[in-house]
Amino acid sequence: MLRRLHPEQPAEFAFSAANKAWAEAQVSKYPEGRQASAIIPLLWRAQEQEGWLSRPAIEYVADMLGMAYIRALEVASFYFMFQLQPVGQIAHIQVCGTTSCMICGAEDLIAVCKEKIAAKPHEISADGALSWEEVECLGACANAPMAQIGKDYFEDLTAERFGEILDELRAGQVPLAGSQTGRFSCEPKGGTTSLLEGRGDLEKHNGSVALAASLKDTVKRIDGTEVPLTAPWLGDASKQQTKAAFKEQREASSGPSKKPATLKAPLERGADDFKKIKGVGPKLEKLLNSLGFYHFEQLAGWSTEELTWVDQNLDGFSGRAQRDNWIEQAKALNIQSETNSDLHAKNSTRSE
Ligand code: FES
Repeated sequence: MLRRLHPEQPAEFAFSAANKAWAEAQVSKYPEGRQASAIIPLLWRAQEQEGWLSRPAIEYVADMLGMAYIRALEVASFYFMFQLQPVGQIAHIQVCGTTSCMICGAEDLIAVCKEKIAAKPHEISADGALSWEEVECLGACANAPMAQIGKDYFEDLTAERFGEILDELRAGQVPLAGSQTGRFSCEPKGGTTSLLEGRGDLEKHNGSVALAASLKDTVKRIDGTEVPLTAPWLGDASKQQTKAAFKEQREASSGPSKKPATLKAPLERGADDFKKIKGVGPKLEKLLNSLGFYHFEQLAGWSTEELTWVDQNLDGFSGRAQRDNWIEQAKALNIQSETNSDLHAKNSTRSE
């Protein structure tokens, strides 16, 4: 496929402070004179920041790495993971059109793209939400036909299910990645017939799907609010600098915030079990406790600005409080625990 720069280009590109700190740390992995080795991660980061790779972005990365512009353009135009034109705001859909997928129905999926997104590949849908293209084999041939959406593979697709997935994405939902017919991985459609011994009970989803389901970030682009990828080989100063740049970016992108009231220790009745909140595990519970939160009623009473503050200060988990709707979850759990303690009080009065 001929891959050219888009005719309309922005005037300039620059990494955000957080992305620049991250990019400089990546470059430092390589010995002097070998900085060009960092080109793919840096181009990818530039694409994540803007949604696509513009000429100024390619040249900016080339300058950072001391490369001729043509060398950087060669890389950007070779790999179809790099988008050389603007893409849909929610997602860019890559439908595999190679042999297995073609035999198993890729043309039907492309027809869905034409109907629900736009008539031509790389054209953005009228609502600006989605775009699509046909790509070469993505290596999931046993689960054909398939499409890559954001970071995840959606496999064993039918035109109907694919259409639903596009609708779900448009509605702001995060569809479950992986096989859409419930296959665990790429075992025969009728189920595994050999090497059954010692398999035990397999988890519901394979590792990739389970991780995708827990992160729920299939189509989310890296925006500088994630866990900073620090560069321990540069020492503590660099770690602090990277963290500070990320924190600054996180705060700038998330609007006004206000620190909620906190407690030094749980009330006498003991801390509530935050692990009952969907998406909160032991690590996140510990982090919440360290910030001074021990009870559902504290979380249930947060204002929008207080929720933003919490999200900004959940190091390594930023954005979770809002994403998983902790306030509503905590309200429901608070009512439930109050009801339980009422029942407990009644029962103990009866037994006395
Ligand atoms: S042919 Fe589609 S993933 Fe290989």
